[in-house]
Amino acid sequence: MYKIAVAGTGYVGLVAGVCFAEVGHQVTCVDIDEKKVELMRSGVSPIYETGLEELMKKNYSVGRIEYTTDFKSAYKDADAIFIGVGTPEQPDGSANLSYIATVARQIAESVEKDCLVVVKSTVPVGTNDKVEQFIQDFLVNDVKVEVASNPEFLAQGSAVYDTLHAERIIIGTESKWAEDMLTKIYEPFHLPIVSVNRRSAEMIKYASNDFLALKISYMNDIANLCELVGADIQDVAKGMSYDERIGSKFLNAGIGFGGSCFPKDTKALEYIAKQNGYELKTVKAAIDVNKEQKTMLYKKASKRLITFNGLKVAVLGLTFKPGTDDLREAASLENVPLLLEQGADIYAFDPVGAENFAKVHPEGKSGKGSITYVSNIEHALEGSNVCFIFTEWGEVKAITSDTYKKLMRTPLVYDGRNIYPVEDMQEAGVEYHSIGRKPAIREDIKESKNLELQNS
Ligand code: UDX
Repeated sequence: MYKIAVAGTGYVGLVAGVCFAEVGHQVTCVDIDEKKVELMRSGVSPIYETGLEELMKKNYSVGRIEYTTDFKSAYKDADAIFIGVGTPEQPDGSANLSYIATVARQIAESVEKDCLVVVKSTVPVGTNDKVEQFIQDFLVNDVKVEVASNPEFLAQGSAVYDTLHAERIIIGTESKWAEDMLTKIYEPFHLPIVSVNRRSAEMIKYASNDFLALKISYMNDIANLCELVGADIQDVAKGMSYDERIGSKFLNAGIGFGGSCFPKDTKALEYIAKQNGYELKTVKAAIDVNKEQKTMLYKKASKRLITFNGLKVAVLGLTFKPGTDDLREAASLENVPLLLEQGADIYAFDPVGAENFAKVHPEGKSGKGSITYVSNIEHALEGSNVCFIFTEWGEVKAITSDTYKKLMRTPLVYDGRNIYPVEDMQEAGVEYHSIGRKPAIREDIKESKNLELQNS
């Protein structure tokens, strides 16, 4: 078993650290945030992630994991140091590498024995060559330090499971010593290991994420066409999924992809291509479709209602997907400001994301409109004029069409996640618009006494 230090305790670093401890390694997680370190020592996870806290507590109690701000003591005698700090997107789409550079410098100034530095963060191809050079430049002691690439494929909400049961471990190394060491570190996981050179490993991460982003944008594009030609995207996806070359995963059309990876990694790869004088047309298309998709329902609803001024608007789901409190690039962040600008009185429900959302949009009046956070869906729906669904939380899925009909002042639902069968809504008398499927239109509206909505 190895002595491992992990730099950064976000999704990537903390989950990796905890899982390394779980398989028996001796782990020290390093973060600059003193409060966060205190929190983790008391057994509390700074992120909402299924199963993480249990493993933190278990491994902390047996002394296999510790948390510190003292990077020097953590790095000085580590066999391997994993870097899992953020590489946030910059305005031009490129990745900000300053956190990685800071950690690399701290490592160079601290290590007192030969050590393997493993970069887990997603970085532009060629970055790890630079990180190695950078460490050599600042190295204080006469020791060997090599850099390996080991991209992370975990999805938020299932991060611990994804790490312990990954479909593959990618290791990118430039020497036998580094390859052997990293292979041994991963041996206790009993997972398939793909060993390639450093640049290929860096590229595998982008190429994989961007392929999935493309798959989603492609389905969203086809969904929009389905609506125009009278096809149903869910039936189309089902028919496609039986072809094993296509597969059944990531075929769900919706309100566009969000999160910390797909939006960032598509823009980063497009930027890398541009820097190299190449236009990555496919990835650019994925980005463009996604941008349009995020406000697709808002645009539809605007046409239908003309104005949201004075309407009670229920918003169900704020996070970029269920199972996380993360709001990064969530559709809600695009749509809520548009609604508020228009004077909507929003009642928002999210089982875990409301607190974070309130930091961006505090409860109360906002512009011409207002926003209120409710902990129960019925409260949001009661007396509302229109409802938007941005995240497919279990609580939202559990709402019946009759509940919408009963509680809403005017039962009009815009569903960005295709949660309910259109027929159910039609039968219940709810006007229902989703993505890539025919709408359910209320009979009374068909007969056209139409828009009490506009004036209420
Ligand atoms: C993703 C990758 O899955 C993971 O391998 C990588 O390491 C990081 O990025 P994550 O962002 O946590 O993980 O979530 P994921 O479940 O992949 O969903 C990303 C976005 O795509 C969400 O907004 C989700 O709603 C959307 N999505 C996903 C769809 O719109 N349709 C689908 O079929 C699947």
